Amino acid sequence: MTEISAQQITREALMARDQKDELRHARERFDLADDLIYLDGNSLGALPRAAAASIAEVTAQQWGRDLIRSWNKHHWINLPQKLGAKIAPLIGANAIEVIVADSTSINLFKLLAAVLQLPRVRDDANRRVIISERGNFPTDLYIAQGLNALLGNRFTLKLVDADEIKNSLDHTVAAALITHVDYRTGHAHRMAELNAAAKIAGTNIIWDLSHSAGAMPVNLNLDSAELAVGCGYKYLNGGPGAPAYLYVAKNLQAQLATPLAGWLGHVAPFDFTAEYIPAAGMDRFLCGTHSAIAMAAMECGLDTFENISIRDIREKSLALSDLFWQLMDEHCAQLGFSCVSPREHASRASHLSFAHPQGYAIMQALIARNVIGDFRQPNLLRFGFTPLYTRYVDIWDAVATIRDVMLSEHWKSAEYQTKNAVT
Ligand SMILES: Cc1ncc(COP(=O)(O)O)c(C=O)c1O
Repeated sequence: MTEISAQQITREALMARDQKDELRHARERFDLADDLIYLDGNSLGALPRAAAASIAEVTAQQWGRDLIRSWNKHHWINLPQKLGAKIAPLIGANAIEVIVADSTSINLFKLLAAVLQLPRVRDDANRRVIISERGNFPTDLYIAQGLNALLGNRFTLKLVDADEIKNSLDHTVAAALITHVDYRTGHAHRMAELNAAAKIAGTNIIWDLSHSAGAMPVNLNLDSAELAVGCGYKYLNGGPGAPAYLYVAKNLQAQLATPLAGWLGHVAPFDFTAEYIPAAGMDRFLCGTHSAIAMAAMECGLDTFENISIRDIREKSLALSDLFWQLMDEHCAQLGFSCVSPREHASRASHLSFAHPQGYAIMQALIARNVIGDFRQPNLLRFGFTPLYTRYVDIWDAVATIRDVMLSEHWKSAEYQTKNAVT
């Protein structure tokens, strides 16, 4: 590791800070190599230590020995509700308002379709606009496009900049798909403000919480959010391809019908009747059979938050990202990086992105040196800070490695120039 000197901050001071960190024991909940600097928990959370044993038990004993009896004996059937209840406190919702199912993309489809089919939307010829953000994560935009095509292109998808969303919410809007935190910049919307504007406009916002839940306070009830979805595999540590979740405010649940009317969303799946009658509450948003193994892994991910307050997570997240930014300013200022994330805490989530013309190759060189972040088009190096397992000293070492990769021109190696399928 190249030594870097700082006037106020030293590596030793950061090691001491780690010793005093109230969250330091949370790292033990994860199976992470000591020499790995993992700054990509915003994309794929680290492996919870409990997951391997839990998956082994579900596989060998529950599936292997108890077989189909496990749906009752080990309550596999209730996992969507059980895990929803564990997510609820992380997003400021009631347990009966959250359910785990399918992927984020599919849940976006289900909720957007449900809103567009509400009689007050469907029958109002003036409400034909779906609002989303120009730089939104593509799946949100694609789902809106695909659904609209299915509905005969009755709606217009209008993409606006982040600061135009509030004023775009008017009587023409059928629904808005807003991602709480921008996957590139880490900019966080003011949820309460946009929900208030949506209420005045008589429309609904569907929030995508993929880059906020588990890393910063999300107060769906307090901020009057009505609908939300989110990823299980990022800050929630549910494992690669983990199931996602949906939130629908209690007073709206009975009005909404899922377009994917599967048997597990039926009021009585084991009556096996021919006619679909939706279940009460969030159960109606279930579709088909869930993976008990994937849910077991996800439960371990959610349990890594046990007895840890989101307030403490937020405090450390901001401290880690402030430190990273400060060290980048001090030690990498002349190396061509510029941060595109918001400086002010109120608008910032838990990742920072730095633009650099050689962003992809630099990130590959960092990964080769055990500093893992990721790359996003067109030129962004993205670094996520996961307070449960990121140490202050990791930030120091990460910046030292960035500096070294730049000064040594290590990133110029041929092996880092060709893009992998996943960036
Ligand atoms: C904002 C946002 N929504 C959705 C997704 C992914 O959805 P899915 O889990 O359906 O692939 C991502 C993935 O990075 C995301 O950043």
